[in-house]
Amino acid sequence: MHSLVSLVSILGIVTSIYATYVDPQVLDACPGYKVTQVSSEGATLTANLALAGKACNVFGPDIEELSLQVTYETTTRIHVKITDPSEARYEVPESIVPRPKPDPSVSVHDAEIRFNYTTSPFTFSISRVSSSEVLFSTASHPIIFEPQYLRVKTNLPDNANIYGLGEHTDSFRLPTFNTTRTLWSRDAYGVPTGSNLYGNHPIYFEHRTTGTHGVFLLNSNGMDIKINDTAGTSLEYNVIGGVLDFYFLAGSETDPLEVTRQYAEIVGTPAEVPYWSFGLHQCRFGYENYIDVAGVISNYSAAQIPLETMWTDIDYMYKRRIFTVDPQYFPLPRMREIVDYLHSHNQKYVLMTDPAVAYLPGEGYGPFDRGSQMDVWMKAANGSDSLGAVWPGVTVFPDWFNPKTQGYWDNEFAMFYDPDTSIDIDGAWIDMNEPSSFCNYPCTDPFEQAREQDLPPARDTPPPDPNAPIFGEASPSQRSLGLRKRVDHAGDNLQDPPYHIQNDAGSGALSDRTAYVDAKSSNGLVMYDTHNLYGTMMSTATHNAMLARRPSERTLVITRSTFAGAGSRVGKWLGDNFSQWDHYRASIAGILGMAGVYHIPMVGADICGYAENTTETLCARWAMLGGFYPFMRNHNADTSISQEFYRWPTVAQAARNVLDIRYRLMDYLYTAFHQAHLDGTPVLNALWYKYPQDPSTFAIDLQFFFGDSILVSPVTEENATSVSAYFPKDTFYDFLTLMPLQGRGETVMIDNVNFTSIPVHIRGGAVLPLREKGAMTTTQLRSTDFEIVVAPDSQGEASGSLYADDGVSITQNRTTAVNFSYKHGTLTAQGNFGYPLQVNIARVRFLGVSHAPHSVKIDGRPVKTGSFTFNESTGVLDVNVGTPFDSAFTVQYS
Ligand SMILES: *[C@@H]1O[C@H](CO)[C@@H](O)[C@H](O)[C@H]1NC(C)=O
Ligand SMILES: *[C@@H]1O[C@H](CO)[C@@H](O)[C@H](O)[C@H]1NC(C)=O
Ligand SMILES: *[C@@H]1O[C@H](CO)[C@@H](O)[C@H](O)[C@H]1NC(C)=O
Ligand SMILES: *[C@@H]1O[C@H](CO)[C@@H](O)[C@H](O)[C@H]1NC(C)=O
Ligand SMILES: *[C@@H]1O[C@H](CO)[C@@H](O)[C@H](O)[C@H]1NC(C)=O
Ligand SMILES: *[C@@H]1O[C@H](CO)[C@@H](O)[C@H](O)[C@H]1NC(C)=O
Ligand SMILES: *[C@@H]1O[C@H](CO)[C@@H](O)[C@H](O)[C@H]1NC(C)=O
Ligand SMILES: *[C@@H]1O[C@H](CO)[C@@H](O)[C@H](O)[C@H]1NC(C)=O
Ligand SMILES: *[C@@H]1O[C@H](CO)[C@@H](O)[C@H](O)[C@H]1NC(C)=O
Repeated sequence: MHSLVSLVSILGIVTSIYATYVDPQVLDACPGYKVTQVSSEGATLTANLALAGKACNVFGPDIEELSLQVTYETTTRIHVKITDPSEARYEVPESIVPRPKPDPSVSVHDAEIRFNYTTSPFTFSISRVSSSEVLFSTASHPIIFEPQYLRVKTNLPDNANIYGLGEHTDSFRLPTFNTTRTLWSRDAYGVPTGSNLYGNHPIYFEHRTTGTHGVFLLNSNGMDIKINDTAGTSLEYNVIGGVLDFYFLAGSETDPLEVTRQYAEIVGTPAEVPYWSFGLHQCRFGYENYIDVAGVISNYSAAQIPLETMWTDIDYMYKRRIFTVDPQYFPLPRMREIVDYLHSHNQKYVLMTDPAVAYLPGEGYGPFDRGSQMDVWMKAANGSDSLGAVWPGVTVFPDWFNPKTQGYWDNEFAMFYDPDTSIDIDGAWIDMNEPSSFCNYPCTDPFEQAREQDLPPARDTPPPDPNAPIFGEASPSQRSLGLRKRVDHAGDNLQDPPYHIQNDAGSGALSDRTAYVDAKSSNGLVMYDTHNLYGTMMSTATHNAMLARRPSERTLVITRSTFAGAGSRVGKWLGDNFSQWDHYRASIAGILGMAGVYHIPMVGADICGYAENTTETLCARWAMLGGFYPFMRNHNADTSISQEFYRWPTVAQAARNVLDIRYRLMDYLYTAFHQAHLDGTPVLNALWYKYPQDPSTFAIDLQFFFGDSILVSPVTEENATSVSAYFPKDTFYDFLTLMPLQGRGETVMIDNVNFTSIPVHIRGGAVLPLREKGAMTTTQLRSTDFEIVVAPDSQGEASGSLYADDGVSITQNRTTAVNFSYKHGTLTAQGNFGYPLQVNIARVRFLGVSHAPHSVKIDGRPVKTGSFTFNESTGVLDVNVGTPFDSAFTVQYS
């Protein structure tokens, strides 16, 4: 299938030979371009480029003339755009990724990075001004620009530390040998490594001990990004459309967090989510009926495991049609009863909605009829509805670019999720939005394929008693999404472009198991260009539809497919993993990528694993690791054994233990989300983010920081009760015993980690606002007193903060923001207390105290002996406070 482009290409013969691989020497022998005219004005340089020799026509005719525009947009960001001036080429619409506005006051001389170029051949480099270090350079790798093939290649340092280029299940630090990262959304069951998955993030960070920088290619077309180390290490973009639209980010020489914040300036900072969404979520595919769903809720409660939110997968639907309930298995009145029960117990409910709408002309299926009436479906090349085969059988796909689609979606959400007459969901879950189709390429007869694949599948259990007792009781805005330019694909082969990206869906054809690449939106754009945006556009439409239901409240929308910027509206789960130890381990790199690089911090993997059968010990370990996913959800596949945490005593205890820790840390996590929302500071941190000078940390992805200061070091091997964890040269404290541990820049074996515990350490230098204890719901938690833990660093200092508000409103009239600082035995808490916490500070706990204090003072007044206790063996000084947490205070010991 995939053959090698041979030397015929060099001879300039345009062949019909397709390839995924071309000898790098062939590409490097292409003529590239030369600068013919250049001008600069202020912080912008523009130039014309002309083909510098005989066309090489590797994957189509080389475009003769290009235009280059380079803008110093801020002191830390350079925008480099190379386009074809003669032809209208597709660009990612501003409506999907609004371009950041350049700072007009920036001058080239203020910039921390510099664009430099050679004229003939045209090559360019980006270097760090302070050190002249080259960060990106196309020298000796000519740019190739053809209708359906773009190539840019940069040299990298040997063993470069590259992170990003997701979505993937590869290591967090990408291998520098023989690596291909393919960006083309697909329904990637089993989330295999080395493969294209659900979402696309063409951003990478490169870390060196001399600094960390970032490179973002704003392009939504299919692409392979190759990293290899033959003839030096290099990174090469092979893109099948669009334009070269690069943003280079200076990052910083000392603080890796700077580059994450600079990336947020382009794609937006993460959305704030409701406080309750940090509680525990329970879901599965395969709850057979409403009695099952109610039973899970009751059994969590009976097991004293805090369940915040119950979820239901497509099981609830009638014949798997969105916006319906099965009247026999999930009758509306009983579903309303379940939702009422949850709400009256301060719990929540979430349902799945898929994008594909069952194609049922003349059958009275409202969601299809209303959409057809409004004409909001993607269109096939001949203008008919573009069809696929998904869960309900033959389907159409909403065209999110159509200006009427948001209204359609708002209306369907308003009707089906109406609190008064239907199902009053608290959050939305959107799946299958790559978009996924089960139709195998060429999908010439989706009706036949739907029949062959038994879509929708019949239920295999008898319907429940409609009057069964449950809960142990007797029963009772539109924006125009248009593009300025007309995109011209005349002459292009959309189905089978000359360069084959390494798509792992089905046969590898771009249209396989998804909407056809020639399917068209109302604005004329085709899926060939916009496929990778589909899930993000559905995310935005769903976020907006949820806002339309409750205009003043934050939304929780969890999606499967994402593109750069999705996190500013939605969260994401890591898709259909397996109940396997390597999937448990890989989830850490997965959450670090989403939260630490792509700015989608509301992220988690399916705890205990989705497909296949979990085991008691895997589920116990995973419950505890999942306690440190920002989005904590247990989810399971329809043919797997049940895995709710209450199913095994060990797992139940593991879950109770970690949920106690998680809930005590919830305000710390909420504060981290607020900070992320303000400026893009990541909610999770790889170890090297905090220890950028320590090369031992660069590849670590089995430990991570939850927030700024909580080091999580889970056991990572089956049956093991120990873990070798790396502790950088720094002071740490065990989260439970509060005993200090001096890190020496070495791996430490932590032994006797039984199946109900997980090693968690506080990084010295932190003041943590903890709740005194966990709770069964976040509502209850919010009325639980605080305790402040002071964990000094090796200098004897610490700091921290607390942000609090009502937890749901988009616009907050009253907020509380407290800063804590600790030095020389004195903790000071100051700030604004606008939002009334209505709880007390129960106590302050000082860690690492070397000897018993003579005196302790609160707000300068000595406290009675008996109001404080000192534990000599742990070095913990506890001071009882017991006053309302509504104003500044100091606690001091000497
Ligand atoms: C820019 O490139 C030219 C030609 O390669 C080189 O001589 C010059 O030193 C470079 N300038 C900077 C600031 O890197
Ligand atoms: C490179 O990776 C591909 C795909 O994973 C594999 O088939 C090939 O053998 C690898 N090549 C080398 C030289 O390791
Ligand atoms: C990396 O280089 C090796 C050796 O030249 C080659 O076999 C392999 O195909 C290359 N991998 C990629 C992804 O280009
Ligand atoms: C709930 O617990 C009861 C009692 O142990 C058990 O019979 C039932 O199967 C459980 N149901 C679910 C859905 O977990
Ligand atoms: C339009 O094309 C589809 C295949 O994409 C085909 O099934 C359908 O019959 C065509 N409709 C018309 C009116 O030609
Ligand atoms: C999971 O367990 C069930 C029940 O024991 C069994 O029927 C099924 O085959 C198992 N699945 C796998 C993938 O082993
Ligand atoms: C873990 O222990 C179980 C039960 O003894 C055993 O079946 C399994 O093979 C062990 N796994 C490993 C990786 O040793
Ligand atoms: C597991 O370890 C924790 C922490 O060391 C300890 O508190 C707990 O008692 C142990 N549980 C069992 C069942 O041994
Ligand atoms: C904020 O104040 C406005 C105007 O007084 C009021 O309508 C709104 O409900 C308040 N919001 C919150 C979250 O208290």
